[in-house]
Amino acid sequence: MGHRAYYDCKITDLLCLSSTFGYVGLVVGIVIGVFTWYSWQKNLKDSANTTLPPGSLGLSFIGETLEFVRAYKANKFMEDFINPHVAKYGQVFKTHVLFSPLMFMGPPEGNKFLFSNENNLVQASWPSSIHKLLGRDIIMTKIGEEHKRGRQILSSFFGPIGLQSFVPRMHETNNNPFRTQISTLNPHCLQEVIKEQNKIAMEKVGDLLCWDDTRKMKYTWQVIQESMRIQPILTFATRETLKEIEYGGFTIPKGWKLAWSGPRSHLSPQFFPNPERFDPSHFEGIGPQPFTYLPFGGGPRICPGSEFARIEMVVFLHHLVLNYEWSMIDPFEKMTMKPFPTFQKGLQLRIHKKD
Ligand code: HEM
Repeated sequence: MGHRAYYDCKITDLLCLSSTFGYVGLVVGIVIGVFTWYSWQKNLKDSANTTLPPGSLGLSFIGETLEFVRAYKANKFMEDFINPHVAKYGQVFKTHVLFSPLMFMGPPEGNKFLFSNENNLVQASWPSSIHKLLGRDIIMTKIGEEHKRGRQILSSFFGPIGLQSFVPRMHETNNNPFRTQISTLNPHCLQEVIKEQNKIAMEKVGDLLCWDDTRKMKYTWQVIQESMRIQPILTFATRETLKEIEYGGFTIPKGWKLAWSGPRSHLSPQFFPNPERFDPSHFEGIGPQPFTYLPFGGGPRICPGSEFARIEMVVFLHHLVLNYEWSMIDPFEKMTMKPFPTFQKGLQLRIHKKD
């Protein structure tokens, strides 16, 4: 009897629990259903809106997120996402990714438009996950006057004057751009970099490198620029329209997200002949057309750390090529985006110090 009561009680609890789950499931199902239906209707309406650029907003709130993320992670953003869209819809197209409609601008006009209209027609816009991850108190997410003030403070640290005293104290470091350079240096480029760095080292006779030395590292800098062209660190960034705007014959509603994307021009034969070839001469002479080479972005939000990064990279290569020899354990090792370029196996090297 006692046992019976025990089981009765458990069975009633289970029934109770399952019906509670049933209700919760039903409510969640209805909410998802309504949300899906609403976003689907909205997507249909936006798709039918002929004042917007062509493109697909995909199904419901997922849009084209899956193919976008797949292409991005596999480091095939251009081949598997941008190029098929451009072939189908043209340079300017709309899509719907990461829960938001998004319009990709074509280079170089689209880049110029975004960089020239910051705080006027568009402003920085980051997903809420970035705000949560990095906090609200960082320059990237600031806008208007607050952003201007932040940039002024940063320029005193990262501008040429602030950085000059820093060069002699720099040591070797390790991050993505360096790894890309190590792996992409072909034997001819490497010899040229060694020649340039040897000349600078001979003139130094024991002194530490200084700011002026880094300005003489012209070929080394071309090699680094070419590395950042072939494998950009930031694939795209977004802005948000502050009001309804006209662009390229289209009308873009207020609050829409617009994206610029470096690889669209970096990897285009229109702006860089034989774009698939690692060739530092892409940066000889007057170099690329305006708004086509954007490793550090452009406009009022151009990377404030670009000069710091330049010095760090040339100083690193100076020490590396003069003191070490290396080879990749897997010369065909692929990159993945996490969300920045990362070698799948961590770029294992055989490395030894020169005599
Ligand atoms: C090779 C190294 C680097 C690359 C390729 C790079 C790239 C970029 C790009 C493309 C942007 C613009 C994003 C946009 O338009 O929304 C940016 C912004 C920014 N970068 Fe860098 N960056 C590098 C190194 C650094 C370093 C070393 C620092 C700091 C010491 C830094 C600090 C920042 C900050 C604070 C912003 C936000 C600027 C703003 O919103 O006004 N970056 N970076």
